[in-house]
Amino acid sequence: MEKPGNLILVIFGASGDLTSRKLMPAIFSLKMQKLLPEKFAVIGCGRTEFSDTDFRSRMKEGILSFSEEKDPEGFLIDEFIGSLSYFSIDSTKASDYIKLKEGLYKKAKELDAGENFIFYMATPPSMYSKIAENLHRAGLADQSAGFRRFIIEKPFGYDLGSGMELNRKLHELITEEQIYRIDHYLGKETVQNVLVTRFANGIFEPLWNRNYIHRVEITSAESIGVEERGGYYDSSGALRDMVQNHLLQMVGLTAMEPPSSLESNSIRNEVLKVLQSLQPIQAADVPGQVIRGQYTGSTIRGKCVPGYRYEKGVAEDSRTETYVAIKFFINNWRWGGVPFYIRTGKRLPTRVTEIVIHFKKTPHHLFQREVGNLNSNQLIIRIQPDEGILMKFDMKEPGAGFNVKNVNMDFHYKDLADVRVPSAYERLLYDVMMGDSTLFSRDDVVETAWKFVEPIQKAWANDPEIKIYGYPSGTWGPSVSNDLIEGCGLAWRYPCKNLSDDGLYCEL
Ligand code: BG6
Repeated sequence: MEKPGNLILVIFGASGDLTSRKLMPAIFSLKMQKLLPEKFAVIGCGRTEFSDTDFRSRMKEGILSFSEEKDPEGFLIDEFIGSLSYFSIDSTKASDYIKLKEGLYKKAKELDAGENFIFYMATPPSMYSKIAENLHRAGLADQSAGFRRFIIEKPFGYDLGSGMELNRKLHELITEEQIYRIDHYLGKETVQNVLVTRFANGIFEPLWNRNYIHRVEITSAESIGVEERGGYYDSSGALRDMVQNHLLQMVGLTAMEPPSSLESNSIRNEVLKVLQSLQPIQAADVPGQVIRGQYTGSTIRGKCVPGYRYEKGVAEDSRTETYVAIKFFINNWRWGGVPFYIRTGKRLPTRVTEIVIHFKKTPHHLFQREVGNLNSNQLIIRIQPDEGILMKFDMKEPGAGFNVKNVNMDFHYKDLADVRVPSAYERLLYDVMMGDSTLFSRDDVVETAWKFVEPIQKAWANDPEIKIYGYPSGTWGPSVSNDLIEGCGLAWRYPCKNLSDDGLYCEL
């Protein structure tokens, strides 16, 4: 892989968790893979007063605790830490950006790194447009001497109106090409592998449509609760936090038409078309097509865990959903009539994300099948953990007669022992440095996703009769979500072959 050209990365919100837990370990991994530019520096910006030394030692701690890299000699980490510095700033104050600009140019000159700058907003979303505005005012958005790229983290707005408003404000200051909206699911190897599975193999695409597929199911389950993020989560909920972005992006990649090339807009145009074809869920259909739930207190493997309403930062009468399951259709020629089911939730039995393609049954049953074996063919794309692919199909049981048994054919990424799987942030940061925006959410994709989610948000806000179901922590969500999947003997796939004792690992 190619090294990016020289640049300086400026991180706003550098004293926060995201920087030490995710960004620094990812940048350090790029260093280990020799994928950082020849001349490179990171300037952390934040309101907290830190000296360069304080900042470096905090970041070193972050890397040592959260990086998956092994650095036995230890010298690389010190060399890397040496490329970090800190600039204390009030992000709302325009005059502070003049000082930042001076510091930035000084650093660029010292390093002889040219004038390519990336600005990462690891701040609360309410700050995005203010920071962009102040950078713009200080002349730091102008690209005449080098590129200026802006990375922003989700949430990209709170609903359709605020999402559009954020885009509008940013576009007044910078171009869409300068904006990289991070949806870290798109940085996951296995999410990208959906494209390769579909479009590098001739055997799937002829079957990938309403003629052969009965239904599609996407699950993204987490075993953790809201942890320390109750304050944020209570004003967000699973629909905004997971569905509007990660799950709909996975729907887009699963359902899209083959792109004409790997050029970034070519892929994003196809994802956009899928989202534009989602059949809107009318207010009257919300109770029947969307199930929301909230976890309640329970004992999981002997340990008591509190209900959502007892979590720090959560209102005691909160009606925020920690679980959501939706049934919907895609109105186009490929998918007309095929139901898509998506579900996500916190405090479910395990952490697992997977896409399940259920193929149609054979038109005539010649053989005696195992009890319960009604859907013999499934393709399971496991996003995490135990990343891989599994195909379920029927085989003859040895012996007399024609008894049929459902068996698996599988591939696990971990079997490629010599292949290192980069983290999502590592991949995405590298792509920004290379100027490749394929794996970032484009403005129109974000807005179209909000359009799909909005009627659900409105129905929940306007109709107090729509139920929010409690589900005990450690279970698969409200049992009523099973009713979404209609048909004799059909159910959500139970994604775990072996749930380990601590319930955290789920084998494909
Ligand atoms: C984040 C959500 O975007 O994704 C979190 O804000 C969620 O609530 C996380 O826990 C899940 O990411 P992953 O990579 O652990 O599946």
